[in-house]
Amino acid sequence: METDIAKPASAKIETEDFLPLSGTDYVEFYVGNAKQAAHFYKSAFGFQSLAYAGPETGLRDRASYVIRQNKLTFVLTSALRNDGNEIAEHVAKHGDGVKMIALKVEDATSAWNETTSRGGQSFLLPKKLNDENGEVVMSGIHTYGETVHLFIERKNYNGIFLPGYRKWVSNYNPKETGLLYVDHCVGNVGWNQMNKWVKFYEDVMGFKNILSFDDNDISTEYSALMSKVMSNGNGYVKFPINEPAEGKKKSQVEEYLEFYDGEGCQHVAIATHNIIETVTQLQNRGIEFLKIPPSYYADVLQRVGHIDEDLQPLRDLGILIDKDDEGYLLQIFSKPLQDRPTLFFEIIQRKGAKSFGKGNFKALFEALEREQDERGNL
Ligand code: FE2
Repeated sequence: METDIAKPASAKIETEDFLPLSGTDYVEFYVGNAKQAAHFYKSAFGFQSLAYAGPETGLRDRASYVIRQNKLTFVLTSALRNDGNEIAEHVAKHGDGVKMIALKVEDATSAWNETTSRGGQSFLLPKKLNDENGEVVMSGIHTYGETVHLFIERKNYNGIFLPGYRKWVSNYNPKETGLLYVDHCVGNVGWNQMNKWVKFYEDVMGFKNILSFDDNDISTEYSALMSKVMSNGNGYVKFPINEPAEGKKKSQVEEYLEFYDGEGCQHVAIATHNIIETVTQLQNRGIEFLKIPPSYYADVLQRVGHIDEDLQPLRDLGILIDKDDEGYLLQIFSKPLQDRPTLFFEIIQRKGAKSFGKGNFKALFEALEREQDERGNL
């Protein structure tokens, strides 16, 4: 018979998660024209109107449109004036981009205390927001560039989004495209900055480095990068961090840093249960994806083994396949979602695999380089 052996105190401390996260609450984009951006994300990606805040709800400097599809919530925010408005300044510098990656927590006050006492720089002191539907507590810390992690505690709230927002009812309710939730958000950081941000996620947020790619894994003839994947304890929140590496020509990460004018979110990866249906819908609605050469599919099944899907639709759509010890994954990358070659989306369907498509890096980055070359930035 086995007996319980009490763990030493030090082991207990190591396994205790001081920042328990139950996933991504929402992603907020600062954009030039939130009204039009919301329409684009609705029509192209199948989001539904959810909530709105602006002058009509008492905000003087901004308008925010909230859209949702399954567990994926986006907020599109624009400045209404330019007198030192931080949103206007953010958009002037970076173009449209991700400002807030908001994370769901049980206790936003504890999240702020735990992270700031470990060196996190405060963005927002714990703040209570109330309306007739209850109370939300929010707090936040800065991360790479001008990006922010908000902590959202909504266990005592049953309104549609956050206090201060009103329901947004629209006559336009496009069909959804099967997007489910945020799988991961990738940050691009500057030269020699990757390990600094790895340490930030380890020390300040209690994340672990679960995978690393160096420039031998991720280099093509020209461009190169290094990447480390940071994950929280339960794996619900994953933040890969990329840094440029020396190649023959300019790294794709460097192109991003130049056009975003600093560090920021490179891509948001969104999960689906049926990537063939989702990507067919997105392409029909005008979303463009990176083109993968037909040669990629010639030997892909030798590399990954059996998959449930027919290869033909994957080839037609340009969907990539990779495997790890636990299964396989299907993934595809959009072209940039704005004129600056900065933010893009990944669509991912995991069939057991917990990795990030390392086997696809070469084919993928060659495709990226062709695009970069067309823009004259290689
Ligand atoms: Fe990704």
